Amino acid sequence: MRYQPIPSDMYIRNRAKLVGKLKPGSMAIINSNDEMPRSGDQTFPFKQNSDLFYISGCDQEKCVLTLCPGHPVESLREVLFIVRTNDLMVTWNGYKYTLTEARQLSGIKNVKWLDDFELTLRDQMSRVQTVYLNQNEYIKFTTEVPSRDLRFAEKMKREYPVHTFERLAPLLTDLRKIKEPEEITQMQKACDITEEGFRRALGMIKPGVLEYEIEAEFTHAFAIRGAVHAYQPIVASGKNACVLHYITNDQTCNNGDLLLLDIGAEYGNYCADMSRTIPVNGKFSARQRQVYEAVLRLLKAGMKMLIPGTTNEKWHAEVTKLMEKELIGLGLITEEEVKNQDPSNPVFFKYYMHGTGHFLGLDVHDVGSRQDELKRGMVITCEPGIYIPEEDIGIRLENDVLVDDVPVNLMASIPVEPDDIEALMKKV
Ligand code: GLY
Ligand code: MN
Ligand code: MN
Repeated sequence: MRYQPIPSDMYIRNRAKLVGKLKPGSMAIINSNDEMPRSGDQTFPFKQNSDLFYISGCDQEKCVLTLCPGHPVESLREVLFIVRTNDLMVTWNGYKYTLTEARQLSGIKNVKWLDDFELTLRDQMSRVQTVYLNQNEYIKFTTEVPSRDLRFAEKMKREYPVHTFERLAPLLTDLRKIKEPEEITQMQKACDITEEGFRRALGMIKPGVLEYEIEAEFTHAFAIRGAVHAYQPIVASGKNACVLHYITNDQTCNNGDLLLLDIGAEYGNYCADMSRTIPVNGKFSARQRQVYEAVLRLLKAGMKMLIPGTTNEKWHAEVTKLMEKELIGLGLITEEEVKNQDPSNPVFFKYYMHGTGHFLGLDVHDVGSRQDELKRGMVITCEPGIYIPEEDIGIRLENDVLVDDVPVNLMASIPVEPDDIEALMKKV
């Protein structure tokens, strides 16, 4: 394992909270993610199902967790199944959890080999009427690739057609939105590692450098701390910064251009999500600084609004009001245009076409909806941006913020003031 795991107490608490939400006479079943095929006999690096990780800390493929709180036999109320290791497997594929390790990591007393799954499940199923099954229900995501949870749900409905099935995802979503202190610690670590990458990159960025060379600085900083990229990094110079999901990162950074970096480390499966925009030659032009300062004001104002009681939707609406003023100040739109705008297609949209932020946690776009009331303990990104393709300017600044009466910026130590950026980039 490349990270310091969260002690099992948190997983015990998380499971207790989930069990508290299940109907009487029910059980819940949740599967690990698949190892995804890459090419030939290779797979992509394994990424655990965030929902399973949240309630078990188990970071291995081919695991199933069953929670059957009403079972008369205490040892069958909570069972984790893991793949059986043997010497041959260890010789070829390396290390897998032993039963004891899985027990220690998860705090689940009854860990069994997967070979026992079918029979144990039959016993548990005979004691319940309702079964909660899990799915990735992220609103804006569709995929043609069936997950293990989906395949399992189809099998269960075939094999146990007279049971009642319920959705587990809404229950887990409710829990995952509010972060435990241990989770905040991991997220802070992911932010700190991201900062190391940024400071490292600041030392080498100059005209002529390739975007992917900058990406490599972050990759190095992440890898030596046991982290990986939380998402495909965006290293976008000049006009590339106006392509919101630019990930090719294969162009040369030119003198006079801005460089937009949207990069975050993932540590122990917890994500950071940072954006910074810097001048390639170490000095902002007057116009670049003018637009930068407008975005920075929006970042600061936006972060302050992340207090309990609001919603992402209301927050975004407030930020866009400020955005309109900034865009007028920058001479990009007029008051007249704002006054006469069609509310379903506001004029600011030409220069600011994305949301102001999203939930962050085990997933970079974490569970939760734009209509959810913000509560203490939630983590939201604040990421205003202004994109002016006709001027080759694209500026986004993004911090990760813990919702509280006084919101906590988890990226407070990552340089963002333009004078600080220029000072750090000054080569001696
Ligand atoms: N890096 C993805 C995002 O900012 O939402
Ligand atoms: Mn983001
Ligand atoms: Mn981002």
